[in-house]
Amino acid sequence: MKKALILFAHPRYEKSRANKALLTGLRDQESITIHDLYEQYPDFNIDVAHEKQLLREHQIIVWQYPFYMYSAPAMIKQWIDLVLEHGWAHGAGGGQLDGKLVFNSITTGGTRESYAHGGFNRYTIAELLTPLEQTAHLCRMTWLPAFMVQGTYRLTDSMLAEYAGLYRQALLALAQSPPLDTIKTYEFLNDWLTSGNAQEKP
Ligand SMILES: Cc1cc2nc3c(=O)[nH]c(=O)nc-3n(C[C@H](O)[C@H](O)[C@H](O)COP(=O)(O)O)c2cc1C
Repeated sequence: MKKALILFAHPRYEKSRANKALLTGLRDQESITIHDLYEQYPDFNIDVAHEKQLLREHQIIVWQYPFYMYSAPAMIKQWIDLVLEHGWAHGAGGGQLDGKLVFNSITTGGTRESYAHGGFNRYTIAELLTPLEQTAHLCRMTWLPAFMVQGTYRLTDSMLAEYAGLYRQALLALAQSPPLDTIKTYEFLNDWLTSGNAQEKP
């Protein structure tokens, strides 16, 4: 069974509802490591050797965060810039992340409909994530569609609990032998799960 590393970055976790709910659903899973980057590195001074060791120990890598100004919070960029080193993650002598699965788990205030050409936010989520996608490609990681929780301001606690269940289901299904080519045809991981095509094997 593959192990998942959640690289979690929320600049205001004490005010979080959506991300808090998503993480609550995962806390009892031994195969899932929740790594709270703002808690661990309040001064942004990332321990690169420790992060590389965590990456070696996990096969599914998740960048989880609230969408802030159409992007990930600064900590995710800091983590990428410091940890995904040339000669380790990519370039000559690199390839340490080769074949690992990677996806984003994102909460947005904006609705799904608003992230479309002609919509309020003008661009799709996939388009806004292209720098991260290309970074994953550079590191020869397997890029998967994002898990999305959108329109957060209007979600009730029970809706958030449903998303948390779906997120947990996604991580457990990916830990088995997921049909990657099928998964990549969906816009979001959520769509794969709700399509009924994702069966978590016992
Ligand atoms: C500084 C800031 C910037 C934000 N930028 C965006 C944005 O670009 N797009 C969007 O849909 N929501 C945006 N939001 C809303 C957050 O994404 C939303 O509140 C968050 O995902 C909810 O998750 P949480 O309950 O875990 O905090 C922003 C919120 C803040 C505070």
